[in-house]
Amino acid sequence: MKKFIKCNDLIDFELCVNQIIDSKKNPTKEVYNKEGKVLGLIFFNPSLRTRLSVQKAAINLGMRIICMNIKDEGWQLEFDDNVIMNGDKAEHVREAAKVISTYCDIIGIRSFANLSNKKSDLEDNVINSFVKHSTVPIINLESAISHPLQSLADAITIKEMSKVKKPKIVLSWAPHPKPLPHAVANSFIEMCTLCNFDLTIANPLGYDLDKKITKGYEIIHQQNDAFKNADFIYAKNWSSFDDYGKVNLCDNSWTIDENKMSLTNEAYFMHCLPVRRNMIVTDSVLESNCNITIEQASNRVHGTQFILNELLKNEN
Ligand code: CP
Repeated sequence: MKKFIKCNDLIDFELCVNQIIDSKKNPTKEVYNKEGKVLGLIFFNPSLRTRLSVQKAAINLGMRIICMNIKDEGWQLEFDDNVIMNGDKAEHVREAAKVISTYCDIIGIRSFANLSNKKSDLEDNVINSFVKHSTVPIINLESAISHPLQSLADAITIKEMSKVKKPKIVLSWAPHPKPLPHAVANSFIEMCTLCNFDLTIANPLGYDLDKKITKGYEIIHQQNDAFKNADFIYAKNWSSFDDYGKVNLCDNSWTIDENKMSLTNEAYFMHCLPVRRNMIVTDSVLESNCNITIEQASNRVHGTQFILNELLKNEN
């Protein structure tokens, strides 16, 4: 595997999820040794879980880590070609990616959607520029349109926690005061497809996601109807896709509370975190036994460890 940008970069995603769950149960079965290998982490945006879980995964493999908050600490990068660089961007990604490649064996990139230029976001320009110009594998730490490491951890968590063979999963929009990208929701849907999960999407009118991604799935605009008999509720906010990047609605009637959870089949509550309490979900749901967000975050390490190992497998 040369890159991990989307869930389907794994040839058999579900098989990999099962292997990760198996290796959690039998941690000594496979001995990893990637001593001397260097993981470079480049952050254009903030992070808690991704930054720490990826470092923990690399440490578990014996790797060394170098990390840079490039927006605050580096030169501003130019991504367009054939431009006269007489503005505030001092370095082109063509040089930056090649230089970082000489220091690292894998490069992780976090670069959110800017939510102002739909075309550029949909092209996933930043991470794809690094894929194009680097000479080592690239791992996606959340790009404009995908967050596959999150979805890998989500898949592990659902398979580990599910009480039934084919759980009913609801991806539910929930309110948030600021415009958020679509990456987590996109990758979650992609992951559900690859794992053949029974997924329903619930969101208000005007908040349908990219039709290319939701194709084949039922989209319900009444949250209560969607929650009936669900085994997992996956909450996430996203800004409007059609009215790109806009928050036209911050409807607190979509906040997930105990009453809504009582409509479900004693469903587990999931969220990628960070979560805004009493906006996305009430304190009472987060403080109840149905909350498995910490398990999700913990599984980030296991998923990432597997991916780093895969990316280093075919070296040399
Ligand atoms: N879920 C997630 O990616 O968390 P961070 O933004 O804190 O990395």
